[in-house]
Amino acid sequence: MIGTYYYPEQWPAKQWKADFERIKQMGLGHVHMGEFAWAHMEPEENRFEFEWLDQAVEQAKQAGLKIILCTPTAAPPVWLSQTYPETLPVKANGRRVTHGSRAHRCVNSAVFNRLAERIATQLALHYGDDPDVIGWQVDNELGHYHSAPCYCLACLVHFRQHLQTRYQTIGALNHAWAGDFWSQRYDDFEQIELPNPETLGYLPNEHARLDFLLFYSVSLARFIERQARILRAHLHAGAWITHNFIAGDRFCDPRHVAPATLDFFSITMYPVSGEYGGTPQTEQFRIGDPMAVAHHCDVARGHNGRWGLMELQPGQVNWGPFNCRPYPGAVRLWLWTAIAHGAELLDTYRFRQPVAGCEQYHAGLLALDGQTPAPGGEEFQQVAAELDRIGAYLTGTGTLPLPRAAIYFDWTSSKALEIHPQSLDFDAAQCWLRFYSALKTLGFAVDIIDSESDLTPYGLVCTALVDLAPDALLARWRQYIENGGHLLAGPRTATRLPNGHFPQTTYGRRLARLVKAELSGYDVLPAGHTGTIELLPGGRKIAWHSWSEQWRPDGQSTILAVHRDQFYQGACAAFQTRVGKGAATVVGFDAAEGIRATVAAGLDALGQTRVSLPPRCLYQVRGRLGIFLNFNAFEVKLPASLVPAEKSALLIGQTVVPAADVAVWLND
Ligand code: GAL
Ligand code: ZN
Repeated sequence: MIGTYYYPEQWPAKQWKADFERIKQMGLGHVHMGEFAWAHMEPEENRFEFEWLDQAVEQAKQAGLKIILCTPTAAPPVWLSQTYPETLPVKANGRRVTHGSRAHRCVNSAVFNRLAERIATQLALHYGDDPDVIGWQVDNELGHYHSAPCYCLACLVHFRQHLQTRYQTIGALNHAWAGDFWSQRYDDFEQIELPNPETLGYLPNEHARLDFLLFYSVSLARFIERQARILRAHLHAGAWITHNFIAGDRFCDPRHVAPATLDFFSITMYPVSGEYGGTPQTEQFRIGDPMAVAHHCDVARGHNGRWGLMELQPGQVNWGPFNCRPYPGAVRLWLWTAIAHGAELLDTYRFRQPVAGCEQYHAGLLALDGQTPAPGGEEFQQVAAELDRIGAYLTGTGTLPLPRAAIYFDWTSSKALEIHPQSLDFDAAQCWLRFYSALKTLGFAVDIIDSESDLTPYGLVCTALVDLAPDALLARWRQYIENGGHLLAGPRTATRLPNGHFPQTTYGRRLARLVKAELSGYDVLPAGHTGTIELLPGGRKIAWHSWSEQWRPDGQSTILAVHRDQFYQGACAAFQTRVGKGAATVVGFDAAEGIRATVAAGLDALGQTRVSLPPRCLYQVRGRLGIFLNFNAFEVKLPASLVPAEKSALLIGQTVVPAADVAVWLND
C-alpha cells in the first residue's frame, strides 16, 4: 500500500481534482489528510466545518484513492491558544510557548483534552463509517518540536498525582529518591516541584528526573489512548488506527501506549538532512546511514510486529542543518529498505512542495509546477510499479530464512544513562546502535525486544544497555544460556535495579556472577585521550575513549579483547564463557571500531553461522523474497552465498548492485 500526504486546506479547491488524479496516475493508492487542519475543521469554538473536507474526500474517492484521516491535535487554532492560554506548554526556561508554529499544546491540560476529544469525536462521527476512509492517525509525532517535556502547572499537578499513585506514601518516595541526602526529604507530595535542570541550582536528583521523564512519556501515551478510544467507538470494523511516531522518540516510550490502542505502529523517516555522519567519500550525507534507516524499521516492527512507514522524505527537506540533495535512487532504496523490513504501508510527506509558508523549501513528489515529477516522485512511481509486479511474493515463506537475533531496547535504561552518562562522550544511543549494527552486518534478522519477550526463537540475544534490570530478567538470561542460547552482553549491563539504585554488591556483580567472572572496574577517558585495546585472535589494536570495563574471567573463558595500556594493562575487555549448554559473550567496551569484530569472533568461537555483508549494505528476507540493499555510492557484488542459483530468480536488479540500488530475488 503506497500513497502520499495531501493538504487540501493549503491549495485552491479547484485544483484538488487534478491533484488527486495525478496521485492516482503516479500509481499511488491513497491520500493522507488532516493532521494539521484544526483551524479549518473548527474555525470557531464548537462550530465545525467539514464541507471542504467532505469535498476533498469525495474527489479523492472519484479519483480512485483510499483515504487516511487524522485527528488535528498537533496544530490547535489561534482561538484555542488565545481563549485558553493555559493549554500552551511551558518550556524548561519557564517561558510559555506562543501561538504561531505547531504542537503548541500541553497534553496534560484538562481544557486542551476536552477540546481535543471533542474534535476527535466530531471527526469520528462524521467519517467513521465511510468505507473508503480506511485508517486513522491520532495526532502527530508526539514528543517532537521542542514542546516536550512541558513544565506547566497542569503538568506539576499531574506529576504529583502520578507520584502518589506510584509510591502511595511519601516515605516510599523518599526511599526511591534517596531523599536522606542533601535534605531532599519531603513530608508531602504537594511539596514536590518539577525536576527541571534549568531551574534547579545544581544537578537534579537522578531518580526524580527519571520519574519525571517516565511520567511525561506516560502522559503522551494516555493522550493518544484517549483519542484512539473515541475513534474506535465510531469507526467501521475494517478501519485501523495508528500514531505517527518518531522511531526512538526522546520523550515517548511507545511501550507506554496500551497495546490494544493502535492496530500498528507508524513512523517518520528522514535519512538525509545533513545530520548523519560518514566521510564525504561514502556520500552517506546523500544516501543515509543504512543502520539508522534499518533500525527505525526494526524499532517500529518491534511493537506488535506490524508497522507502516507513514512519512518518508521524498527529496530535500528544510529543517536539517544542511539540507542536501539525496543521491539519485536513494528514495527508492529507502522504500525498499522499509519493504524489506516488513512495512505494510508506505507513504510520503508530501505530494506538493508548498509555494509559500512553513516548510516552503521541503520537496514533494512533484516539482514546484505541480506537474513534473521530482526525482523522488519518479522513484515513488517506480516502486509502486515494482510492487504491482512482484508484491504478491511479499507474503508466504521462502526456504532460506535468516538466522535470528534479538536486541533489547530499554527506554528507561537509556534515559537513566542519558541523565547520568558518567562521561560526556558516552552516548547510550550510539553505543546501542553499534551493537545493533554488528548484528545486522553479520547477517542476522534482528528483532527489538523488551523484558517480557520470549528468547527461545533467537540464536543470539544482545542485552546492550539494559542497565536497570530486575533480578527476574537475569534469571531469564541464565535460563536462555543454560538451554543453549548465546547471550551477548554490552557495557553497563544490569548494573542497577529497576528503581535505578545500585544493589549493595560490588559494581556489576549480578552479570559477573552469570558469566563466571569478576568485574574489577570501569573507566572513561577525558577529552583528547584514547586507550588501546587489542582484539583476539588476530591482534588488531583499536582505540577506545568513552567507556571500557576491566574484567577477570574464569580460567575456562576465551579472551576476546585485552587492554594494552593504562595502569590496568593486561585486563580483559571482552571474553566468552560457556554456561550450561550455551554461552555468554561479554563486550565491555564502547568503541566505534571493534564491537563488530568482537561479536564476530564470539560467533566463530561457537561455530555459529554468519554472513559477512559488504560495508553499508543490508540484506533481509521478506516472504518469498531475498532483498539486498546497497547504501554505497559505488556498485557492490552480491555476496556469493546470496546469489540465487537460477539467474531467472532475480526479479529486480542484477548480481552486481549499482550505487544506492537494490537486488530482489525469489528466495525459494
Ligand atoms: C515530520 C513531520 C511532518 C513534516 C516533516 C517535514 O517530522 O511529521 O509534519 O514537518 O517532518 O520533514
Ligand atoms: Zn504542561
